[in-house]
Amino acid sequence: MPTIRIRTRDGTEAQVEAEAGLSVMEVIRENGFDELLAFCGGCCSCATCHVHVDPEFIDSLPEMSADENDLLDSSDHRTRYSRLSCQIRVEDAPDGLCVQIAPED
Ligand code: FES
Repeated sequence: MPTIRIRTRDGTEAQVEAEAGLSVMEVIRENGFDELLAFCGGCCSCATCHVHVDPEFIDSLPEMSADENDLLDSSDHRTRYSRLSCQIRVEDAPDGLCVQIAPED
């Protein structure tokens, strides 16, 4: 089972096991990180699952869809490393993927 490192807004980091079939958002939520709100439940319509991917991994992820790109544009905290964690499938994520929960908009 791959692992994902999750960093909270205050910099606390935890390494968790990630089950294939889930999204990275679901892994974050299921491990008790409630500061990732994920209001829309993964429908790509809220952007409250915004994370910043560690630069080491950003190019290993599948390209984002036009919808994800448009939604990220609504965030004041978008960077080159921004992704919506509900749009990243665990099976497409490199082992050891590290993401930080983005500041709240
Ligand atoms: S959970 Fe709403 S866009 Fe990801």
